[in-house]
Amino acid sequence: MKQDLEQLAAKAIAEITSAEDTETLEQIRVRYLGRKGRLTLQLRQVGQLPAEERPAMGQLANQVKVRLEKALEEKQQALTVTGRGPQDALDITLPGRRTWVGRCHPLTQVTREIVDIFRSLGFGVALGPEVETDYYNFGALNFPPDHPARDMQDTYYLGEEILLRTHTSPVQIRVMEGQEPPVRVVVPGRVYRNEEINARSYTVFYQVEGLAVDRGVTFGDLKGVLTSFVEQFFGPRTKLRFRPHFFPFTEPSAEVDISCFLCQGKGCRVCKQTGWLEILGSGMVDPAVLEAVEYDPEVYSGFAFGMGVDRIAMLRYGINDIRLFYENDLRFLRQF
Ligand code: PHE
Repeated sequence: MKQDLEQLAAKAIAEITSAEDTETLEQIRVRYLGRKGRLTLQLRQVGQLPAEERPAMGQLANQVKVRLEKALEEKQQALTVTGRGPQDALDITLPGRRTWVGRCHPLTQVTREIVDIFRSLGFGVALGPEVETDYYNFGALNFPPDHPARDMQDTYYLGEEILLRTHTSPVQIRVMEGQEPPVRVVVPGRVYRNEEINARSYTVFYQVEGLAVDRGVTFGDLKGVLTSFVEQFFGPRTKLRFRPHFFPFTEPSAEVDISCFLCQGKGCRVCKQTGWLEILGSGMVDPAVLEAVEYDPEVYSGFAFGMGVDRIAMLRYGINDIRLFYENDLRFLRQF
């Protein structure tokens, strides 16, 4: 019987090994381990053996049974994995499903980079509403009642006194109303203007506002902060140029140009042969604005600046059409 068992085991293992599909495997299982299977019958015969042979034979027959079950199980797995098993089996020859990795919009990335630089210079972050009142967007910022920026052509009015903010400067007022000096904040956010849509302008865009108010703040502080920002953002060799300008809420005011980082100031298509790129508006906070928030202009002074994130992102990445930021074409977005 011992020999029979060993032969039977060898034969069964050989059959299992050469089985090519799970159906054949099932047939082999029935043939050996089924109710009338060969091994099952052998196991039953153990009971008829003389008592002294029974334990040894019983043990051997059981070992063979365990071996066959294990071999069947392994083969079953092997067949399933290679795709010759039942329909729902795992087919490892199929290409995997790709998981798409999301990322931040390029305007978000640039905004964060700008904000992080100002944080490192000691500025906090403040936010304000996109739906504003005429007072915060214009009045408190010293815009005269008949200023052309209030015109329906530029501003989206939602009601008599309610509008979509046209810049982030109203948050200057909200921050100053909410605290006493010293103030040092940057304000990232979305702004709206009723402009013609083309490659250079859109009805929605992003700004980062900056405001610092304290005793003894000077134009030199403004220059120092902006120089540090520009060197960090555009590179240490970038030069700055302050051009006199006008804003109702700053006096004096200046627009800031940086030396064109594409041609190093020699003149190219992007800087329109001037060697300079305009990146922001700035100035010393007008005393009338300080008065509007009940800061004493005899005691306190401050500077403010505002930059267009879209324009800065376009310059940095060589993007020639602002609309690309708002169309959400994945072929564009995936490049960032
Ligand atoms: N708010 C101005 C604009 O949108 C920019 C600016 C901000 C200028 C702060 C000076 C000071 O054009």
